Amino acid sequence: MRIETQRYTERFGSVRLNEVQKVLELDSGKAEEPNSTKNIAVLKIEEEVIWDYENKMAIVVPVKNERLKLFEGVISGVPHDCLLIVVSNSQRGRIDRFRMEKDALAQYCHFTRRPAFIIHQKDPILTKAVAESGYTELLGEDELLSNGKCEGMIAAMLLAMVLKKSYIGFIDADNYFPGSVWEYVKCYAAGFSLAKSPYSMVRILWRYKPKVSAGMYFRKLGRVSEITNKYMNSLISANTGFETEIIRTANAGEHAMTLSLAQLLTYASGYAVETRELLSIFEGFGGVLPLAQPTVVKQGVEIFQIETRNPHLHEERGTKHLQADMLLPSLSAVYWSQLCDGDTRENIIDELISQGILKQKKEEPPTPKMYRSPCEVNLEKFQEIMSENLASYSALAEENSSK
Ligand code: GDD
Ligand code: MG
Repeated sequence: MRIETQRYTERFGSVRLNEVQKVLELDSGKAEEPNSTKNIAVLKIEEEVIWDYENKMAIVVPVKNERLKLFEGVISGVPHDCLLIVVSNSQRGRIDRFRMEKDALAQYCHFTRRPAFIIHQKDPILTKAVAESGYTELLGEDELLSNGKCEGMIAAMLLAMVLKKSYIGFIDADNYFPGSVWEYVKCYAAGFSLAKSPYSMVRILWRYKPKVSAGMYFRKLGRVSEITNKYMNSLISANTGFETEIIRTANAGEHAMTLSLAQLLTYASGYAVETRELLSIFEGFGGVLPLAQPTVVKQGVEIFQIETRNPHLHEERGTKHLQADMLLPSLSAVYWSQLCDGDTRENIIDELISQGILKQKKEEPPTPKMYRSPCEVNLEKFQEIMSENLASYSALAEENSSK
């Protein structure tokens, strides 16, 4: 793969925020290039290097009642050496969609000779492991793991730690193009290969996010992302004193991080998760608030934003979903961050009023439901309970047990 080098990096305390780097070539060829012909503005990342990172990476596919054909397409795009972890919150019962996902994954793993794990978000053993590790805020009134993408992602992070992976990447299950899934993972690996710190994160920016109306229109950014980026940048500018537009990926559902970083961050429920991850990094390591982990400061946290070649086409869920489920939680996360200044707060309220989400200036967005960082709970206990039962979550569990 050939991508642009990090041409510009902004600093926020010990956080290094790299400007967007574009993918120039998906496959950069085998031939070694003599130093004299090397272009310093462009990096060639060898396939072997990418494979090495993929080998150490878990790719998590959160899924809730997606069309099976889309789910099958997504898993087929994940490079072979990554460990696939599917966390499903799909319907069970008379129409058992989870069963269908499990069967599809088992068949895929059987023919592609690869391991994978699949677990339901409401699984009783997972619930027990979460409860006994002390991560009780993750449990809902029904005493099972709460609904939500973030909640599924945290479960997957804990599982990836049990499975001894070093990197974790997330890919939504409603993507129409397996080729774009493949490219996201290559970008994750490429980003990690450039990182100097063990605390790093790679966030994907789509070149286009097409909308189908009368014809196909290749939009650059999603509506929610555009708005969240604006307020995230405003928060950074207020804290550093320098206006910035560095953040282009505040809502990046497709993103990856080292598990060393993942276990230090605090999370926010549902779709606020990606925005909150960035805020947690700025709060913990930006140097404005007391440091979350003084040991991290030496190496710092590194954030890469990589723009893919493939467009991103996923299931359309309508304006209501965008506003109520996505924009409000994202902006609430920014609003309630300890780093958020008065002007940014006021502008967020105005934005929410203009979007018809809040009614009047006196109103405030709801406080996000927050989750402590995984390093604060008893991970050994979680590991102990899950390790004993890991085999039952293997995609090939039934095939193995009938042997
Ligand atoms: N495990 C699990 N549990 N997965 C879930 C849940 C849940 O409760 N709810 C949704 N998912 C899965 C969906 O099936 C899908 O694969 C993925 O999470 C994202 O959900 P979507 O409903 O497709 O989200 P979106 O397309 O509106 O938003 C996506 O893109 C945004 C950036 O544009 C998400 O990735 C957002 O998190 C992201 O900010
Ligand atoms: Mg989607």
